[in-house]
Amino acid sequence: MAETILDELRRYVEFGTEDEARLRALHPHAAPHFERIAKVFYDRILTHEGARLALESGDGQVSRLEVTLQAWMDRLLSGPWDQSYYDTRARIGRVHVRIQLPQHYMLGAMNVLRRELESVADVAFQGRPTDLAATRTALGKILDLELAIMLHSYREDLLEERAKLERLSTFGQLVGFIGHELRNPLSVIETSLHLLRGRLPDSDERITKHLDRIGSQLLQANDIIGNLLDLVRDRARVRSPVDVGSLIRELTGAVERPERVSLSLSGLDDLPPVHGDAIQLRQVFRNLLANAVEATAPEGEVRVDGRSSDGFLELAVEDSGPGVDPEVRRRLFEPLVTTKERGIGLGLALVRRFVEQHGGSVELDRSYGPGARFRVRLPIQAA
Ligand code: HEM
Repeated sequence: MAETILDELRRYVEFGTEDEARLRALHPHAAPHFERIAKVFYDRILTHEGARLALESGDGQVSRLEVTLQAWMDRLLSGPWDQSYYDTRARIGRVHVRIQLPQHYMLGAMNVLRRELESVADVAFQGRPTDLAATRTALGKILDLELAIMLHSYREDLLEERAKLERLSTFGQLVGFIGHELRNPLSVIETSLHLLRGRLPDSDERITKHLDRIGSQLLQANDIIGNLLDLVRDRARVRSPVDVGSLIRELTGAVERPERVSLSLSGLDDLPPVHGDAIQLRQVFRNLLANAVEATAPEGEVRVDGRSSDGFLELAVEDSGPGVDPEVRRRLFEPLVTTKERGIGLGLALVRRFVEQHGGSVELDRSYGPGARFRVRLPIQAA
């Protein structure tokens, strides 16, 4: 079996079972200091004018992060240092990319932890030089391992992010150009189709069938172009009070649904209106409903549930389909990411763009299954 990244990194810093035992022995001595060390850690960040910029949402965030760091130290010294350890630690690097934390701050911050934990070990193993030396070595290795994991996942995510930006900027220019260029020929085809329909006899079923087919393919092509242009252009938004409940009820007739896919709606009456762009919101729920129906077909259930709370509308769109492949979950809302055979991956990208333009959010509920549940939150007042 191929060596995992964790195994490779463990081998690189020579972290073994002897080190694990040393860290476990240090744990009871260090645990009473976790709270204090977490304070020192964030105080250092807060007193540095550059590092402080990463912590922008005030005291609440720092207290929350202090608690997270205490849990981090707890696992650092108690293990197990296995794949699940690696997965949780790798996430930290990705969070740091999201907040655009420069990498050099991680090195300095790790040193603060190293110094604090070493002084705890110095006191705990005073007068036992062999134990102290072995504990310091184990600490050094695990903190190197932590840095290696953090920087590895940081780099991977950063590269992925850059590739995404490059793809999006080329994509944007290309789409704007092609979209415009295709609109003209499509509208010529549409006009000619209209003229042909008037001239050809209705009685020929085969001709009618083919004309209908041309018509429906034209609609589909226009739809794709419209979506692409929506994604790369900022259309001026028209804000007005939108009754999202009625909008969804109306859409249930507009989204094609096989007979054995049932659709139930709940909590949509008496929702307060959202101050938003009706066309965009219609598109949001049309895409979510169409996806849910498609995922459920040929048979199953689609449910939409709405409620309002704390100044937000919360809409959940659930389906009893196979659920979202874990491989694509993380990139689900990016353009050009799709699991469908026919589809170019614009639907959910548009959903996210429009919802965010309203100051809201959309996410796939990770705890839901089998099937999939998308949660949309929209502020009732204009964002
Ligand atoms: C190298 C030592 C560091 C460790 C061990 C560490 C640990 C963590 C952990 C455990 C989380 C939570 C991750 C999650 O949600 O799963 C986190 C998030 C965060 N870290 Fe660090 N961190 C380090 C360095 C830094 C530095 C130097 C800064 C700022 C200058 C920083 C700022 C943040 C912020 C702002 C978040 C939270 C983002 C959010 O979800 O709101 N971290 N860190």
